[in-house]
Amino acid sequence: MCGIVGAIAERNVVEILLEGLKRLEYRGYDSAGVALLDGEGNLTRTRRTGKVKELADALHTHPSKGNIGIAHTRWATHGGVTEANAHPHFSSDRIAVVHNGIIENYQRLRSELAAKGYGFDSDTDTESIAHQVHYELDQGADLLQAVHNAVKKFEGAYGTVIIDKNDPERMIVARSGSPLVIGFGIGENFIASDQMALLPVTRRFMYLEEGDVAEVTRTNVTVYDQDGQIVQRDIVESDIEHDAGDKAGYRHYMLKEIHEQPTVVRNCLQGRLGEHGISPNIFGQDADSILDNIKHVQIVACGTSYHSGMTAKYWLEQYANVSCNVEIASEFRYRKSFVHPNSLLVTISQSGETADTLAALRLAKSLGYSSSLTICNVPGSSLVRESDLAFMTLAGAEIGVASTKAFTTQLTGFLMLTLALGKHNGMSETDHKAIVDGLHSLPSKLEETLSLTQGIKDLAEEFADKHHSLFLGRGDQYPIAMEGALKLKEISYIHAEAYASGELKHGPLALIDDEMPVIVVAPNNELLEKLKSNVEEVRARGGIMYVFADKEAHFQSDNTMRVINVPHCSAAIAPIIYTLPLQLLSYYVAIIKGTDVDQPRNLAKSVTVE
Ligand code: AGP
Repeated sequence: MCGIVGAIAERNVVEILLEGLKRLEYRGYDSAGVALLDGEGNLTRTRRTGKVKELADALHTHPSKGNIGIAHTRWATHGGVTEANAHPHFSSDRIAVVHNGIIENYQRLRSELAAKGYGFDSDTDTESIAHQVHYELDQGADLLQAVHNAVKKFEGAYGTVIIDKNDPERMIVARSGSPLVIGFGIGENFIASDQMALLPVTRRFMYLEEGDVAEVTRTNVTVYDQDGQIVQRDIVESDIEHDAGDKAGYRHYMLKEIHEQPTVVRNCLQGRLGEHGISPNIFGQDADSILDNIKHVQIVACGTSYHSGMTAKYWLEQYANVSCNVEIASEFRYRKSFVHPNSLLVTISQSGETADTLAALRLAKSLGYSSSLTICNVPGSSLVRESDLAFMTLAGAEIGVASTKAFTTQLTGFLMLTLALGKHNGMSETDHKAIVDGLHSLPSKLEETLSLTQGIKDLAEEFADKHHSLFLGRGDQYPIAMEGALKLKEISYIHAEAYASGELKHGPLALIDDEMPVIVVAPNNELLEKLKSNVEEVRARGGIMYVFADKEAHFQSDNTMRVINVPHCSAAIAPIIYTLPLQLLSYYVAIIKGTDVDQPRNLAKSVTVE
C-alpha cells in the first residue's frame, strides 16, 4: 500500500528518497513521485506511473536537487493509475503534500475549496489536503498552525507530510490512522511510513501517535498531541538488520522467506520454550497473572493472519479447554458482538498496521474485554503499542506480499499460547508434553520438509494451464487448506477454493472434473479415515488429486492421484509442517506462469486502509 519518505538535510536528499522508495516497494504500489525544494526556493516535482525505477530514471535523466524532499509510492484508491493522480500533490506550486490513508469527506472539502477558487488537477482525496493547508495559510496562519487547523477538517485516515516553498526550513507531518515514523540523523532528519525505508540513514526512530502533528527541521523535532500540547515521544533504537531487504541469493523474497522458516521458528522459540514447557511471562509483563483469569479468547485478524487464528481455535479448544471465536477484522468492527466474561482479545498481524485489525482492537477496548494481546511481527507497530500484551513473532522483515514465515511463526506463538492458557485450564499432562515435544522438533521438521522442493517443482508443471483448483482439509488442517488456496490465488492468479472436506457433498462436488485439480492435506490423524472417504468421493467423479500425506497414511499414487509424502510429525505441529509444501507449490506454479511473485498485481503488503 502507499509509502511515504521525507528528508530534510544539508545535502541533496534525492538519493535518500529514491532508496527509501525502493525499500518500500514491497508494500505494493502503482505509481511514484518526488517533490524537492532547493536552497534557492525552487519547488520541483517528478512523478511516474509504474515502478520506482521509472521515477529514478527520470530523475537521473533530468537531475533535480533539494535539501528538503518528500516522496511517495501510491496504491490507487481514489482515481485511476495516472501521473496526475500520483503524489506529491501541489497547491498553487507552493504547497506539496504526500499522503497515506483516505480522507473520507474529501468530496465535501473539494466542493468547499472549489467554491473558494481552488482548481483540482487530480481525482484524488489528497489534493484537498494541499489546498486546505494553502487556504489556512491565506487566512494568516503559519505552516504549523495551518496544518493544525487543516487536520481538524479531515475525516478518515491520514499520514501526511507537507512542505511549503515559502517556509524552507521545516516539514510538517501529521498522523491519524496511518503510521508515520520520524528518523533521527546527525544534522538531518527523516520521515517515513515504515522504518524499513530509513534503515540506510538512521537507526533511531520515534513513532508518532494518533492525532500527533510534528514539526521536523534539520536539527529538531517537536511533536504536538491532538490537543496541540507539546509532548515527548520515546526514541527507540531499531535492531532490524540493515540488509533485511536483500534476497540473499534467492530469486525472490518469497522463496528466501519460505527457506528462512526453520531458522525464524527457532528464533521464535528461543528463550521462550524450555525442556519441559514455556518460560514465565513470554506474552509480556504480568501476562501470566492476566492469562490466569481468561476463560474465552476472541481472535480478530485478516487474510493469512486470520487463517492462523482459525488454526488456533482448534488448538485452544482441543488442548487448552478455552472457548474461542475467530472473526475477520472487517466484519468484527462493524457489528454488535457478544463479549464473553473473562475474554482475551487477540489480534494477529504481520505488519501490526492493518487498518481493520487496528480498528477492531480500538473498538474492543470499549467493549469490556479483560485484556488484549497481539501476535505481531513488527516491533513498535501500532498494534504492539496499543495492546496490553504483545508477543513478537521474530520472523524478521517479511518483504514478499504473500505471507509465509509470518504465518508459521504466528502458529508457533499460538501453540505457546495454548500451553500458557492450558496451564490454567486443566490441560492434560499428555497434551502438554505432546505440544512441548512437538515444538522442540519443529525447526528440524521444517528443514526436512523443505527437501520436498524438487518433487513439488515437478508437480507445479501440471497446474500451469489450470484455471481453478480445490483445496481440502479436515480439522486443524482445514485452515491450512484455506491458507494454501489463498497463496495459490494471490501469486499465481489461479482461482482456488478451500473446503472442509466433509462439506464436499454439500455442493462443491458438482465442480469436480479433470480440469479441476484437488489438493488434499492428509496427515496421519484421527480424521484420516473420514478424509479417505472424501478422497474416494472425488475419485469416483473423475477428479485429479494431489495429496500431501504422511507416509503412514498409506496413500498410493495412481493415474488419478499423486501422493507427496510429507515427513512424519506429531499431530500438534502438523498444521505448521503441512503449510510448507503448499507455499512451495504456489511459488513454483507462479514461477511457471511468470507472475510478479513478490508484488502480485493489485495487492499490497501492508493494508493500511479499510
Ligand atoms: C497474505 O499472503 C496476504 N498478504 C494478506 O492476506 C495478509 O495476511 C493480510 O493483509 C493481513 O496482514 P497483516 O498480517 O499484516 O495484518
